[in-house]
Amino acid sequence: MTDILRRGRLGATDDEVDGFLSSFGSDRRIFGADIDVGRAHVVTLAECGIVSEDDARAILGALDEVEEGGFDALDGTHEDVHPAIEAEVVERVGEDTGGRLHTARSRNDEVATCIRIALRDELLGGMRDVLALRSALVDRAEETDDYLVSGYTHLQRAQPTTIGHHLLSYDAALERDFGRLADAYGRVNESPLGSAAFAGTSFGIDRERTAELLGFDRPTRNSMDGVASRGFAVESVSSALNASVTLSRLCEDLVLWSSHEFGIVEFDDAYASTSSIMPQKKNPDTAELARGKTATVHGALTATVTNLKGLPSAYNRDLQEATGRIWEAFDAARSSCRVLAGVIDTAGFDRGSARATVEDGFVGATELADALVRETGIAFRTAHHVVASVAEQTDKPTADDVRDVFREVTGDALELDDERLENALEPRGCVESHDSYGAPGDEGLLDEARDALEADMD
Ligand code: ARG
Repeated sequence: MTDILRRGRLGATDDEVDGFLSSFGSDRRIFGADIDVGRAHVVTLAECGIVSEDDARAILGALDEVEEGGFDALDGTHEDVHPAIEAEVVERVGEDTGGRLHTARSRNDEVATCIRIALRDELLGGMRDVLALRSALVDRAEETDDYLVSGYTHLQRAQPTTIGHHLLSYDAALERDFGRLADAYGRVNESPLGSAAFAGTSFGIDRERTAELLGFDRPTRNSMDGVASRGFAVESVSSALNASVTLSRLCEDLVLWSSHEFGIVEFDDAYASTSSIMPQKKNPDTAELARGKTATVHGALTATVTNLKGLPSAYNRDLQEATGRIWEAFDAARSSCRVLAGVIDTAGFDRGSARATVEDGFVGATELADALVRETGIAFRTAHHVVASVAEQTDKPTADDVRDVFREVTGDALELDDERLENALEPRGCVESHDSYGAPGDEGLLDEARDALEADMD
């Protein structure tokens, strides 16, 4: 190959150094973006009278051919994708024409622009993936709206809810995760192209025009900031991490629920694995891997931030190392999201096993205390004392158990008829009476989730 960068000065490197300097491994992600950046740049150079229309036309034709050949046709011994593409253009149309492509630009603004373009696609794709998962959650929530199940705090049975309410809790979290990706998109979508190395250029370029041609909202305001900042990457990866943490929590619940002890969910075969030695095993590996990939996303964020911390302005080669982390983060988060949408879509929820978690463990205790407050006028703290004393004796109290303890603790007879007392102890009545906004008995919750999902889909 002709090393278009090093031929003027600098001797040869050795293979290990070449490999060390190269970003080819992760440049595949920005190949298409770099072709588009080349196109927008050369069109604008021609419009501004900096290169001739004939030269621009020839370069555009060459870029089409390079695009058609694809990333794998490039000479991977170049330092990165940018000189590799430029060399292909020069080879096709000659240096006197092709050598004009890099007028008024640097790899510094070029790569920063390419990353933003490729990242826009990841953000939009990530938003689509989140919407698909939310849609699966909302559909299954509708179906399991009346499947009673215990909610857990500290992994101890706590209060009854429904599987539908539980699934909608993830939809609500993912709605915010979606919003974070959308917010990040707004700040990613600014064009550094034309910042050149960092100090702009004396050529009469039109940064507004290249920004417009590449679909950016606007050019970045300061040319040094344009090439030096990767805050947009931190923000994007952090949004991916927020979503991943939500997924990880969902995975943990699914893994627990799929255990023999809970038996609340069964994964479809397509989303389960088995054991090489224990033939009876059906393991929830997809959820475990999605939970595990959260670590990859977290690692990518940590690596990105650590890479940036303490860098001087403007461009430093360290930045190259951060770029691959962005793609790792989005690959891990997005594939997890897509696979989990399938898990949720196809999972079998077992009404009976779910119901069994509210049959004992006295999950109606809080509601009983609330009923005592409402019906007898005692203070909540006194009611808490009464019900805690009931719980001390049994985890499945009868109305009489409650009456006895009430008298022991307060010295008074409990003025509450059996029906109301039993209703408070019965999980179904308990869930239905919890109809405060956002609670499992709130009948508007599902519709609201659907409306929010549709609004985000628009
Ligand atoms: N491959 C480099 C990167 O990803 C491109 C920019 C190189 N710029 C430079 N001045 N060496 O950051």
